[in-house]
Amino acid sequence: MRDNDKCWCKSETPYALCHKDFDLKLEELKKRGKIVPPRKLIKTKEQIEGIREAGRINSLILDKVAENIKAGITTEELDKIVFEETQKYNGRPAPLGYCGFPKSVCISVNNVVCHGIPSKKQVLKDGDIVNVDCTTEVNGYYGDASRMFIIGEASEEAKKLVRVTKECLDFAFSKLTPFMNVGDIGHHINKMARANGFSVVKELGGHGVGLAMHEDPFVNHTAKLGTGMVLAPGMVFTIEPMINAGKAGVYIDADDGWTVRTQDGSLSAQWEYTILMTETGAEILSK
Ligand code: MF3
Ligand code: CO
Ligand code: CO
Repeated sequence: MRDNDKCWCKSETPYALCHKDFDLKLEELKKRGKIVPPRKLIKTKEQIEGIREAGRINSLILDKVAENIKAGITTEELDKIVFEETQKYNGRPAPLGYCGFPKSVCISVNNVVCHGIPSKKQVLKDGDIVNVDCTTEVNGYYGDASRMFIIGEASEEAKKLVRVTKECLDFAFSKLTPFMNVGDIGHHINKMARANGFSVVKELGGHGVGLAMHEDPFVNHTAKLGTGMVLAPGMVFTIEPMINAGKAGVYIDADDGWTVRTQDGSLSAQWEYTILMTETGAEILSK
């Protein structure tokens, strides 16, 4: 691309004043053996505004869940709230029909790690720890976030697990800088979780997001420093550690093909943000 050409990012700005330094930086990193992102993972300004709006609405839907979740409610009732609230914003609950997923939201209770299917048989009770994971598509753009809820009074261990999992996510977020390696995220999370006596799930992780529910790169929450794809400004991805009170092993329920549980029956917690990498740091688009 020549200096006076309009930049490939659709900004209408001359290349030399727009992504030229960016491209040179990635070229240099590539020469040093780093995995650099393809251009399709660098969102345009217009795409970022679309994802920001989807993320904002996704957070409002989680706020609605927060207002309603309590002992005695079924996870199916929460699913209905998510479905109806999403309609109000002209959104679409992205899980519904995704690879055959039957509901609008994933709700994962106690030893369920993720992808729990809402059910009228599942009544929330005092002491439960519950992850509610919403993904919302608005105008073709996606936001993805999850929160933990403690129903009534939970055990000290359960409360610590929920707190530490959030601290791991917030610490990893605080360490985000442009052009770092995605593996650094997992290093920070795994180190902090283990220091607290917990273990981090390996098989599932975060992901690029924005134009689809799941994009590259995979965000491994147990990775090593300096490994994996470079996170460049304009990339949007999730961090969503799943942390177990016991061992890290998980299995998928053979009957429904979705529900992921801890192998040892121990409690599991998860928090998730959608994050935009910027030139100066990072910004949360949905939480
Ligand atoms: N929201 C989940 C994630 O964080 C994806 C759910 S896929 C579903 O990646 F099919 F289970 F809904
Ligand atoms: Co999610
Ligand atoms: Co996600």
